[in-house]
Amino acid sequence: MSARLGIIGFGTVGQGFLEVLIKKGADLPVKLVGIAGRSKGEIFIDEGIDPAEALRCVAEGKNLNECFKDALRLPSLELVRKGNLDILIEATPTNLETAEPAFTYIKEALKSGIDVITANKGPVALHYSELKNLGGILRFEATVMSGTPVLGFIEDNLKGVEILGFRGILNGTTNFILTEMSGGRTYEEALKEAQRRGYAESDPTADVEGFDALAKILILVNVFMGKALSPTDVKREGITSLPATTGDFKWKLVATAIKKESGVEVSVKPERIYPDDPLYYVDGTENALLIKTDILGTIMLKGPGAGRLETGFAIFLDLLKVLKEREKI
Ligand SMILES: NC(=O)c1ccc[n+]([C@@H]2O[C@H](COP(=O)([O-])OP(=O)(O)OC[C@H]3O[C@@H](n4cnc5c(N)ncnc54)[C@H](OP(=O)(O)O)[C@@H]3O)[C@@H](O)[C@H]2O)c1
Repeated sequence: MSARLGIIGFGTVGQGFLEVLIKKGADLPVKLVGIAGRSKGEIFIDEGIDPAEALRCVAEGKNLNECFKDALRLPSLELVRKGNLDILIEATPTNLETAEPAFTYIKEALKSGIDVITANKGPVALHYSELKNLGGILRFEATVMSGTPVLGFIEDNLKGVEILGFRGILNGTTNFILTEMSGGRTYEEALKEAQRRGYAESDPTADVEGFDALAKILILVNVFMGKALSPTDVKREGITSLPATTGDFKWKLVATAIKKESGVEVSVKPERIYPDDPLYYVDGTENALLIKTDILGTIMLKGPGAGRLETGFAIFLDLLKVLKEREKI
C-alpha cells in the first residue's frame, strides 16, 4: 500500500521536493494527499493529488484551491490531525526563537505516529531531544548543508566512531558575501550583490549575524555529540563589521564545535583563513564541513548548501530512508 504524504509549506523547498519526486521517484509507493501552504492555498484529496498539476498551478501564479476546485481545505494543523498521513514533509520558514509553528506541527505528527521529514532548522536545533522520542521517525537531512548529505554520511558511515569536533562553513550567503569581499568589495556592496542574485533575503539578519550557521552547528552537536546545547551555549559573532580584504588570507564565517573535558565548546565567528587551510578553497555559496574523529582523523565534505532542487533532493533521500525503515521499499 502507498504511503500517504502531506506537505506543509509549499515554497522553494516544498516545490523543489515535488520536482525531485517527479523526476526520481515515479515508481515509489507514495501518494500525495495534502498540501498546506499559506498564500499558496491548502488542498486535500483523499484519492491523491497530481504533483505535476500542483507545481504547474503555482508556477502560473495561482492558488492551489483555484486549480483543485473539488479539493477539501485542510490548513496545516488540520492536515496533520485529519489527513490520515503516513509521512509529513514540513518546509515552513525557520524560526530560531520559538521554532513555531513548525514545532507544533511536527510534535503533533510524531505523537500520532506520523513520520516527519523537515527542512526546518528551528525545531531540530531547539527541540531535538524532545522530538526524537515521540513515536514517528524524524529525519532532517535538508537542515544542514541542504543537498550535501552530511547527516546521512555520518549516520550511515561513521557508526561507532567518536566525533571529536566539527569545523565548517555552513552558510552559503555569508560565504558568498565574504568571497566577494576578498575580491575587494565592501560588505555593503557584497550584500547588495547577494540580494540581487537571490542568495540573501531583504532582511539578511539570520545569515549575516550567524544565526543560521549557529542552528546548523547545534544540530550537528546535539545529534552526533550526544549533547543538548541551546543557542545561548554558542558564542556567536556575525560578519557585518568586517573590512574588505585583499591580503593573503580570506575571511570565512566558521562554525566550530570542540570536545573538551568540560563538555563541547561551540562557536560561530569570522576567522582569517590562510591557504594551508582546506576551508580557504571553499568559495561562493558552497559549504564545507570537517569532521574530526578518533579513528579516521579528519574527513571533509564539500558541496551545495542551499537551492531548490538540492534541498528537495535531501528531503527525497530522507523519504527513501523512511520508506525503507517502514519496509515499503
Ligand atoms: N531554500 C533553501 O535552499 C533551503 C535550504 C535548506 C533548508 N531550508 C529551510 O526550508 C524551509 C523552507 O524554506 P523555503 O526556501 O522553501 O522558504 P519559502 O520559499 O519562504 O517557503 C516557505 C513556505 O511556507 C509557507 N508557510 C509559512 N507559514 C506557513 C504555515 N504556518 N503553514 C503552511 N505554510 C506556511 C509560506 O507561505 P507564503 O507563500 O504565504 O509565504 C511559503 O510558501 C525553511 O525552514 C528553510 O530554512 C531552505
